[in-house]
Amino acid sequence: MALKRLAVITSGGDAPGMNACIRAICLTAESQQIEVIGYRSGYIGLIKQDYIKLTSSMVHNLIQRGGTILHSARCEKFRQDEYVKKAAENLNENNIDGLIVIGGNGSFKGAEKLGEYWDKPIIGCPGTIDNDIAGTDYTIGYHTAIQTAVESIDKVRDTAEAFERIFLVDVMGREAGFIALNSAIASGADHVLLPETFTSAAEELVKILDKLDKRRHHRANSSHIIVITENLWPGGLNILKDSLYAETGVDVRILTLGHVQRGGSPVWQDRLLATKLGDYAVTAMLNGESGVMAGVRSALPVSVEFKYVHNKDKNLNPYSMKMLDTITLLG
Ligand code: F6P
Repeated sequence: MALKRLAVITSGGDAPGMNACIRAICLTAESQQIEVIGYRSGYIGLIKQDYIKLTSSMVHNLIQRGGTILHSARCEKFRQDEYVKKAAENLNENNIDGLIVIGGNGSFKGAEKLGEYWDKPIIGCPGTIDNDIAGTDYTIGYHTAIQTAVESIDKVRDTAEAFERIFLVDVMGREAGFIALNSAIASGADHVLLPETFTSAAEELVKILDKLDKRRHHRANSSHIIVITENLWPGGLNILKDSLYAETGVDVRILTLGHVQRGGSPVWQDRLLATKLGDYAVTAMLNGESGVMAGVRSALPVSVEFKYVHNKDKNLNPYSMKMLDTITLLG
């Protein structure tokens, strides 16, 4: 089947670099005389037949822009078959020959579901700051989120140090510790709490107090930065804050980084990754591939079946985990 008209959506949590991916898709498609349609607000646009035509002139000056010009959404309705069927009908009515979904795990599940009702190729590009997608070393937006977290921790370290305070820094990641682990290492944080290794509040509190104690002997009168993946501490971070104050008498403050980690201009790693994966997705579709995610392994693009992506857990880097205790103990 000839590929004359392809559609693209950005879906789920937006991520810096999504625009760079849209740009690459448009440029590569146009070089092959393929028309590109951008549906707005993820799967909602497919259901509502809400789209715009994308051209190379429209994606000029876009590679460095955060957010997504197509807007994004988490579409609850797409869990219901009637809406998935409607999306398939709309794609057919619009003569779309293939769809590229830029998004995370939830968006790829939606893509698989759509594949049950629509017989044209669907390819995913991993776009999420969480980096929690199996089959790809990195996801679009992840490096920028780490950069933002590191810059914020560097800044908070200055005031923490001045007041000799403990800071609890809450970073995003949903149920994965990639952002927490790497922003903690890169900012020289004193401790990190990860969903992958968290046991119980009582046990983790003992570990934190033990570390604070060792550090205080090593370097008195200094700050302590503890990086924590969002939603991890049972009952919320105020509980940990109160426990730490009660045990140490040291002032504790909480910094929740939140959605700033999703914004801003993508760093070069995300621009490069987004461009590679956007180009690869179009090329793979032209080669007849479907039902796969365009991932990256050892800097090279690869096709990974959606089934693999859904059924496999992605582990934190074992070497980073191994060195964690050494590098966060005394420095
Ligand atoms: O998946 C990206 C992400 O930013 C997660 O890190 C976070 O848990 C979630 O999205 C927040 O979602 P929302 O923007 O809907 O609050």
